[in-house]
Amino acid sequence: MTPETIAALEASFAAIGDRRTELTPLFYDRLFARAPGVRGLFPDDISHQAMKLADTLEVVIAHLRSLDSVAPALMEMGDRHARYGAKPEHYPIVGDTLLASLAEVSGDAWNHKVEEAWREAIEVISATMLSGVRSR
Ligand code: HEM
Repeated sequence: MTPETIAALEASFAAIGDRRTELTPLFYDRLFARAPGVRGLFPDDISHQAMKLADTLEVVIAHLRSLDSVAPALMEMGDRHARYGAKPEHYPIVGDTLLASLAEVSGDAWNHKVEEAWREAIEVISATMLSGVRSR
């Protein structure tokens, strides 16, 4: 990831600010509308445990300059996801849904450069998670 991409992500996350809390509910609404088939993988009540997506993004954004340090945790998370029933083909759907949700909470701060930076970050996160899936 280039220093420009990292700077764009940090600025974008900062610009989202308190609207971060809107991200997860928005994301779920969009995801289940777009891919109703994955609803059954999640607990009925997602309001509490949720996907903790915003928390995960925050941790990753804080470690963009040292992604190796969070890679083992992401790999473990990927392996847990395989047990939840997440399939590799779900990742692009989740990634696109996340991008659309980020765009919505970003408002005027969203532009092509910011979108490409997030796309790259989501690809790195997804690929790292998938690399942690153990065969069983
Ligand atoms: C960018 C990629 C993703 C990130 C950052 C992410 C993040 C998370 C986090 C932090 C949790 C909380 C539980 C844990 O840490 O194990 C979680 C739970 C969950 N995720 Fe994801 N996730 C991603 C992709 C996916 C995909 C592709 C699916 C497939 C539909 C998925 C389905 C689930 C389910 C079903 C749970 C809840 C399982 C349960 O509590 O029973 N996630 N996710």
